[in-house]
Amino acid sequence: MRILINELAEIQKEFGYIPENEIERLAIEMNMQKTQLYGVISFYSRLYTEKKGRNIIRVCKSVTCGMNGSKAIREAIIIHLGVGDSMTTEDERFTLEFVECLGLCNVSPVMTINDAVYENLTVEKAIEIIDSFE
Ligand code: FES
Repeated sequence: MRILINELAEIQKEFGYIPENEIERLAIEMNMQKTQLYGVISFYSRLYTEKKGRNIIRVCKSVTCGMNGSKAIREAIIIHLGVGDSMTTEDERFTLEFVECLGLCNVSPVMTINDAVYENLTVEKAIEIIDSFE
């Protein structure tokens, strides 16, 4: 399984997502059914079968972040980018995802953009950070 995950991660790194033809190729190569591969891909929230934006914003929507203002932040980001949860902006600059607890409740509200973590957010801070990405 570990080798399969590495293969899928490599494909995603190359294409930005895991295209259908690569799934077919890998299924043949690993003597697996395509449905098995789709099962694995859908299990891991960071593997995608559709093209995503250049930057992936993940905003926590769980309880602690919610109590500390993440709802207002999520609403402001929706208005600012013009897209909702699990959507990509037209210019493919951002994909927005509202996710469950990121494990950083002590510094909530929290969002990540790609691999960077942003803590103790306010609406203004979140928008400023997003605008700093190309
Ligand atoms: S509830 Fe948001 S990081 Fe835990």
